[in-house]
Amino acid sequence: MTVTTLTSVTTGTSTYRDSGLEFATDFLIGSATAAYQIEGAVDADGRGPSIWDTFSATPGKIVNGDTGEIADDHYHRLESDLDLMASLGLEAYRFSVAWPRIQPLGSGEPNQAGLDFYSRLVDGLLARGIRPMVTLYHWDLPQALEDAGGWTSRETAYRFAEYAAIVGAALGDRVDCWTTLNEPWCSAYLGYGSGAHAPGRTDSLAALQSVHHLQLGHGLALQALRQTVTTDAEYSVTLNFHVLRGDDASSPEAKRRIDALANRAFTGPMLRGEYPADLLEDTAAITDWSFVLPGDLETIHQPIDFLGVNYYSTATVRMWDGTSTRQNADGHKDVGGSPWPGSGHVEFLTQAGPYTSMGWNIAPDGLEELLLSLSEQFPRLPLMITENGAAFDDVLEQGAVHDLDRLDYLRRHFTAAHRAIAQGVDLRGYLVWSLLDNFEWGYGYSKRFGIVHVDYDTQERVVKDSGLWLKTLIAGRRLPD
Ligand code: NOJ
Repeated sequence: MTVTTLTSVTTGTSTYRDSGLEFATDFLIGSATAAYQIEGAVDADGRGPSIWDTFSATPGKIVNGDTGEIADDHYHRLESDLDLMASLGLEAYRFSVAWPRIQPLGSGEPNQAGLDFYSRLVDGLLARGIRPMVTLYHWDLPQALEDAGGWTSRETAYRFAEYAAIVGAALGDRVDCWTTLNEPWCSAYLGYGSGAHAPGRTDSLAALQSVHHLQLGHGLALQALRQTVTTDAEYSVTLNFHVLRGDDASSPEAKRRIDALANRAFTGPMLRGEYPADLLEDTAAITDWSFVLPGDLETIHQPIDFLGVNYYSTATVRMWDGTSTRQNADGHKDVGGSPWPGSGHVEFLTQAGPYTSMGWNIAPDGLEELLLSLSEQFPRLPLMITENGAAFDDVLEQGAVHDLDRLDYLRRHFTAAHRAIAQGVDLRGYLVWSLLDNFEWGYGYSKRFGIVHVDYDTQERVVKDSGLWLKTLIAGRRLPD
């Protein structure tokens, strides 16, 4: 696939050297968003409240007190945002459906106006030749379900399957790519363990119950989708793997523990039909896992067609010796408790730069390593990068954003992905996070991940240089340097 001839390509006013790295025509390149981060319109057309509405309205939870109330106002700007996607030449667009728009109270009859919005979105994508990729759950649980226990309750998994069947029936004649959960690690450990994310609970047992019920929901939702979707669809789940480093004598043990909690706690049940024995041992003081009922693991262990991989950076760990001021960095804002039930004595070390504005280290080799490792662990399972991207402090000047740092980040990560493909990894595509600057959860609007700049006062969109670069890549199927 690699060719050596160097040419140059031009987009807008920029000319890039052609790196010579080629991507096959069926390698899907696009971008991704999530409902709560971009839609706004939280009261429109019968939408009910989600845990993120409640959490962001709670003082002290979000930087600057930001909320998703307006966000990018995407709900009201659907047509022009679709045109924007088309102008970039996106081949695929990964978005999430807001459960509270479909079932305002999390159960019962669907809200037709909510379904209509996503139906228009899907039709608009198809009309522009963009493949819709639906994620059912990107963290915005209906508040009514949280009030009944949220993901600590088994019932929520059943409600999720009911919701999946509704969305499957409504969009399943046109959508052929479905993802159940986005990053259940965050939902469980940040939502119920550290409290950095909605619903903001700090309870290790609740976090582990959520790990299980989210996955039960995944299995039940796959069954529901397979019964309702009529296209010849592909099914998947998206996980955020922790790529672990560390050269201390205690690092192997620390890596094992975090790998068990963050990675194998999900790949075990979903891809192998079992929880790892060491995870059960490490967490024995918290729970005997008796909430895992007979038959659950069979339900969770459904075939999937590809695994969605979200990758941003690496983590360096060692066991805490009890003397230093322990760091508990989890790659996200650390408030309240620990996101690591049963491994509170693992220390996360400051890593070598360079960093993005999230403070995350830039490590494209971590992506290559992750893809190789997953393809070795699960040899017949195709992979898709469902998120990769970076926040930087962008400057809008004279109608342009010269975000060369983001462009460089993407170029280096696409190169790493290409290296993995060249080594035999069955990688099917790459979706850049994110299409638009948006509500970055606990960081509110203070962090910008978009390849398109959003002015939150005017809602004006300006394609950043990184967006123009992506457009060039898609058009030429070769990596611009
Ligand atoms: C992963 C999440 O899926 C997404 O919602 C978030 O904005 C990005 N990471 C960046 O933190």
